[in-house]
Amino acid sequence: MSKNIWSRRRFMQMGTAAVAAGAAAKVTLLQPTPLWGYGRAVGASDTVRFASIGTGVRGCELLAATLRVPGVECVAACDLYDSRHLAAQEAVQKQVPTTRNYKEILDRKDVDAVIIAVTDHQHRKVFIDAVNAGKDVYCEKPMSHTVDDGFAMIEAAQKNNRIVQVGSQRVSSILYAKAKEIWDSGRLGQVDTIEAVWDRNSDSGAWMFPIPPDANERTIDWNTWLGDAPKRPFDGRRFVSWRCYKDYGTGLPGDLFVHLISGIHYITGVNTPPARAFSTGGIYHYKERDFGDLQWTIYDYPKFQVILRCNQNNRYEDQQFAFYGKKGTMFIRGAGAPQALGAGGSLSFVPEPPYQTAEEYSTGSWPEAQKEEYLARWEREHPEPAAGQAKLESGEEVYVAPPGYSDLVDHLANFFQAVRTRKPVVENEVFGNVAALTGCHMSNYSYFNKTIAAWDAGSNKIKNT
Ligand SMILES: NC(=O)c1ccc[n+]([C@@H]2O[C@H](COP(=O)([O-])OP(=O)(O)OC[C@H]3O[C@@H](n4cnc5c(N)ncnc54)[C@H](O)[C@@H]3O)[C@@H](O)[C@H]2O)c1
Repeated sequence: MSKNIWSRRRFMQMGTAAVAAGAAAKVTLLQPTPLWGYGRAVGASDTVRFASIGTGVRGCELLAATLRVPGVECVAACDLYDSRHLAAQEAVQKQVPTTRNYKEILDRKDVDAVIIAVTDHQHRKVFIDAVNAGKDVYCEKPMSHTVDDGFAMIEAAQKNNRIVQVGSQRVSSILYAKAKEIWDSGRLGQVDTIEAVWDRNSDSGAWMFPIPPDANERTIDWNTWLGDAPKRPFDGRRFVSWRCYKDYGTGLPGDLFVHLISGIHYITGVNTPPARAFSTGGIYHYKERDFGDLQWTIYDYPKFQVILRCNQNNRYEDQQFAFYGKKGTMFIRGAGAPQALGAGGSLSFVPEPPYQTAEEYSTGSWPEAQKEEYLARWEREHPEPAAGQAKLESGEEVYVAPPGYSDLVDHLANFFQAVRTRKPVVENEVFGNVAALTGCHMSNYSYFNKTIAAWDAGSNKIKNT
């Protein structure tokens, strides 16, 4: 065996071993961009005055997060459940006026923007009324409850020239920005597979929330909450666990796939639905529901395949993305995942071992002389790099967000700055609609119809293949 080939092979193997052992893992703490207006008083004319519509679980989280965004002021809150008025005031730490009727807020001339965090089936109505009233809108994900809702919402927003931010906050994360930078650099090589999971194992993760003791028809405007959904007597379980039911929610796809797809679209720069989606899954543990507690979907994009999974039975994987490329693998691991390094999650890039070495496997069956001849030729065709010229990517790179970092604060700040400047947001109505179409509606169409869902761009409809 040629000596040179040995030395080359050893060089390759050493690189591979270093990668496998993670010996050279380099950890970088990412620095958030300072928010506009941070550390100084913002004048009244630059202050964005907003109101919140829907101040349940998410609405209160959003209100609390706005306290960290400079130059914004909450001036009103609306919910059709009375207890949530007090909850909203507590979240925003201010005695803002409250109402059950959001039209009162939309009539106010001093309200620049509204945050909409109502149940999925109410998004379309509240959103269209808000943009028609001239308000800019931060609308929670999934943007739409049906395919038609999304296109009607786009039309209304664009007709009224409104700023719209859809609420998949991770697209504003500094980790995702780094992931996009790595993707755009080409360091991953050709990526043919992207996998993402978001798993849970608790009653709360399966949306079986406790029913508040004062929830009843006197404290809740039940008919308005039902909206266009079929009429039925007050049902506290449906009121709090609405995600389980088709009439109001969108199941695991609307709750979690939309976040995963938004992240993938943002990082890869894709902003059109895939050609096809195939879903499977089922109801295994949590029986009281229309939607599955396990769902998988495989999507056909032009340049890669995406595989998503969410379950409510085991959370070993927690939240995780993997982008598999010819030259490297990129992982994003969410906060709380067993592997997560930082409170805000972590991103890692792992170079692939160099596979383009002289063939050893099939040449095992060659006579010695042929093998020697092959190896000598291979060596001539693959000369060793000169000293100092070797370019072997080795060692895992890990990026973490600092403790206390909030992508939600960044996402809200991005919206309010756009309201102020009229410059584009990171996740407008078109992006939000494609994410909902893909993550939510194509996935559910395939799951419920037991067929492959195809996107028909001509008619803006999902069809059977
Ligand atoms: N981006 C995220 O990470 C994230 C997290 C959680 C929820 N969400 C989204 O936020 C939205 C709200 O979810 P939630 O968990 O807060 O639900 P929730 O049931 O806790 O709150 C929804 C609130 O909207 C109110 N409401 C419904 N219709 C209304 C109307 N017409 N007028 C006034 N109030 C109305 C209800 O009374 C309720 O208090 C959903 O679309 C959900 O998918 C997003």
